[in-house]
Amino acid sequence: MGHSKAGAMLCGAVALAGVTAFGCGSQGGGGGGGIQPQQMADALYAVIAADRATYAGQVVDRLVKENAIKATERFKEEKTLPLPAQMLRMGAEHAQKTNSNFSYALLSMWPINQQNKAKTDAEKAGLKFVAENPGKNYYTEEKIADKTYFTAVYPDKAVAAACANCHNEHADSPRKDFKEGDLMGGLVIRIPVNK
Ligand code: HEC
Repeated sequence: MGHSKAGAMLCGAVALAGVTAFGCGSQGGGGGGGIQPQQMADALYAVIAADRATYAGQVVDRLVKENAIKATERFKEEKTLPLPAQMLRMGAEHAQKTNSNFSYALLSMWPINQQNKAKTDAEKAGLKFVAENPGKNYYTEEKIADKTYFTAVYPDKAVAAACANCHNEHADSPRKDFKEGDLMGGLVIRIPVNK
């Protein structure tokens, strides 16, 4: 049986689970080419976006509608649910500890939290691109501290009225005219590539 095929399949499965980010392909000894950085970024995006939508819909929105519990920024003090963006960041920090090979973050040109501002040129270009090109993702390579990364930026949209309303009403939001369906930011996924 072709060892390279088994290797590639294992790599794919492992990458999807977010356990081994870039051990596949030439460097991981799996043989058979492994998966491309874009395929891996797209797969990670599918998982992160699915978790985000499920948490927002099945946990936050449902429990708010049932008047059971709200999601608020100071969730620890107020004994409420974390906001979807806070869930995403806690997940990203956890993943970083498990596997520091890749990273992801939810950023915006109109951030409530200054921590979520674009910092690198690729992040800035990516947020602008997804804002101006509905339905498209942004892919590029960038160098940070002598390391080359494949960097992908995916659109993050106001899938519910609550997204737009809460941001519009937040004192720290630099933008107050979000509507349902608007683009509110972008998910940045960064994967190191061997160069
Ligand atoms: C109840 C209020 C509230 C709701 C509902 C809400 N957000 Fe946010 N959102 C925030 C706050 C507060 C932050 C900053 C949190 C942080 O990073 O600590 C944030 C962060 C973000 C960011 C990162 C940029 C920034 O503004 O800091 C994006 C993008 C975002 N939210 C999009 C959405 C989308 C899309 C939805 C709906 C699925 C949504 N938000 C629902 C309050 C809310």
